[in-house]
Amino acid sequence: MLVYFHYTLFILNLQFSVLVKIYHQENVTSNTEETLTLIRKSLRSATQEVEGTHFDQNIPHIFVTFGASGDLAKKKIYPTLWWLFRDNLLPSNTIFYGYARSKITVDKIRESCEKFMQVKPGQEQRYEDFWKKNHYFSGSYDTRKDFELLHQELLGHEKTNGAANRLFYLALPPSVFENVTVHIRNTSMAPR
Ligand SMILES: *[C@@H]1O[C@H](CO)[C@@H](O)[C@H](O)[C@H]1NC(C)=O
Ligand SMILES: *[C@@H]1O[C@H](CO)[C@@H](O)[C@H](O)[C@H]1NC(C)=O
Ligand SMILES: *[C@@H]1O[C@H](CO)[C@@H](O)[C@H](O)[C@H]1NC(C)=O
Repeated sequence: MLVYFHYTLFILNLQFSVLVKIYHQENVTSNTEETLTLIRKSLRSATQEVEGTHFDQNIPHIFVTFGASGDLAKKKIYPTLWWLFRDNLLPSNTIFYGYARSKITVDKIRESCEKFMQVKPGQEQRYEDFWKKNHYFSGSYDTRKDFELLHQELLGHEKTNGAANRLFYLALPPSVFENVTVHIRNTSMAPR
C-alpha cells in the first residue's frame, strides 16, 4: 500500500505531500496524539528544508484527485483529506476537485466514501463544510481536451478566489500515469 502510494503521488507542494504521507503511514486506529505530533514535526521541517514553501494559511490551494470514483480514492484519499481538513491542518483556503471518467456528482462520491470517513458525534457541521469545498469534474485520462476543460474550470474558480497552488494526486493504475502526467504538464499546471 505504501509503495503504491508513493508511486501515485504526484504532488507539487511539499506540505501537502508530507501531510498526506504521514496520515497514510500512520495506522489510523493508533494514537491520534502521536499522529498529530508527527505532523507538527513535519510541518516544521517542511518549512526549514525547502525555500519558498512556507506554510502560508492564506494562499489558495486546489487539490485535484484523479481517479476520484475509484477504490483508493474512497478508502484512503477522501478520508485523509477529510481528517486533515477536520484537524485544521490544511491552508484554510483549500478546495478539492475530483476527476474521473464517470459522469457522477460530488454527492455520489460522498455516498461511496461515507463508511470510511469515521465522522464522530459533534463533527457533523465540519463534515458538511468539508463537502461544500468539494467539486467534481468528469473527463477521460487520454484526451487533451478534457484536461484543458479542467484547466478552464480551475481558472474560473481562481478568478474569484485568487491564483491557487494546484496539487494533483493520481489515485490511478500505473498504466495511465504517463498520459495523465503529460496532459497535466501540458495543460493543467498552475499558470505561474
Ligand atoms: C495498527 O495499530 C494497532 C494498535 O496500535 C496495532 O496492533 C497494529 O499492528 C497496527 N497495524 C499496522 C499495520 O501498523
Ligand atoms: C495515451 O493516449 C493516447 C492518445 O489518446 C492513446 O493512444 C494511448 O493508448 C494512451 N495510452 C495509454 C497507456 O492509455
Ligand atoms: C506535451 O508537450 C510536449 C512539449 O511541448 C509535446 O512534445 C507533446 O506532444 C505534448 N503532448 C500532448 C499529449 O499534448
